[in-house]
Amino acid sequence: MSGLEDVVACDSSICRIAVEDGRGILEYRGYDIHDLAKNSSYEEVAYLLLFGDLPSKRELEKFKEELAMQRSLPAQIIGLLTHLPPFTHPMVVLRTATSYLGSMDKYIHYKSHEMSIEKSISLIAKFPTVVAYFHRIRSGQNLVHPREDLDHAANFLYMLHGEEPTETMAKCLDLDMILHAEHELNASTFAARIAASTLADIYASIVAATGTLLGPLHGGASQKVMEMLREIAVPWRAESYVREKLEKGERIMGFGHRVYRRVMDPRTLELKSLAKRLAEERNPKWYEISEAVEEAVYKYKGLLPNVDFYSASVYATLGIPDDLYVNIFAIGRISGWCAHVIEQYENNRLIRPRANYIGPERRGYIPFDERP
Ligand code: CMC
Repeated sequence: MSGLEDVVACDSSICRIAVEDGRGILEYRGYDIHDLAKNSSYEEVAYLLLFGDLPSKRELEKFKEELAMQRSLPAQIIGLLTHLPPFTHPMVVLRTATSYLGSMDKYIHYKSHEMSIEKSISLIAKFPTVVAYFHRIRSGQNLVHPREDLDHAANFLYMLHGEEPTETMAKCLDLDMILHAEHELNASTFAARIAASTLADIYASIVAATGTLLGPLHGGASQKVMEMLREIAVPWRAESYVREKLEKGERIMGFGHRVYRRVMDPRTLELKSLAKRLAEERNPKWYEISEAVEEAVYKYKGLLPNVDFYSASVYATLGIPDDLYVNIFAIGRISGWCAHVIEQYENNRLIRPRANYIGPERRGYIPFDERP
């Protein structure tokens, strides 16, 4: 019961996660994550999550066009990004910009299916621009405006680095975003659904999700993983590092999972092979340290890596700054969050659980002057 473990809080037709025959299962709207990883694109997956089915060729083209057209940010948001202190964590920036986008939407409280889809497309399109713009502003670089001819992942890397990514880099980020797009009632999605269940607007629900994602036990873990890999620095130091941390009772970030207990997170399988491919093509350093950490954590604690573990070395190899890792997670997860908010609106009942009271028994009020 603690941490609502195994408590089923709602019906949902968006995502199924399970452990079956000793294997971790993840399906979006009935499609296996490995099939989507192999054959799909982030745009197609976002469509699947929002609309429930894979798009036809025409539907996908139209959806991609709509996303590409919505990438630009209003001048006020750019002003906000310029005014926020440059040391602000980029995830706090994304949260704040989401709220500001809400304040600029005259129809913020409209919740029809069509309006919610429209708002979702706008948020999915704008998240990468907010992140890339803020990074360039804080590092004193000129803004690189979105390009409509690039796919979602490629456009993000283009805006972030100021040059078109190679096909491999764009494909890697696209795959990473597919793997992060949705994961049932994880903490941030649950937070979004709780907000939506009060009939709060979609921006408020996404703000709740972005705030929740940043925690190091959730999406903030991958940044901590990278800090750990940097501290370890060479593969042969991994074992003693892990042993010492565990002896002190500390957690190793990027390991363990509430649902995939003792089985491999299916996303990790995909990310590990992606990290390996990138390591062979570009730089093996982070992958080699990661593998050594994985072995040591399994040896001393029997824990397996989760989605946040190999994403760290993938992002490092793609040249993404450490404190943007959780933002990359959010850029992928926004489509899942929106799908859940829409599902919540469409079959709503206020989410309002109870607490088991363990405080003092009823007692008489002591007036102020009679207190010691
Ligand atoms: N390092 C060391 N020990 C761990 C870890 C870890 N990363 N994760 C779990 N344990 C141990 C924990 O100490 C406990 O051991 P014992 O029974 O000996 O006291 C046992 O495993 C069960 O842990 P728990 O806290 O009951 O597990 P949980 O289901 O509440 O927590 C978790 C799940 C993901 C929060 C946890 O595994 C953790 O803190 N991991 C590190 C942070 C992390 O990688 N988060 C990303 C999660 S996956 C993607 C996402 O949601 O963003």
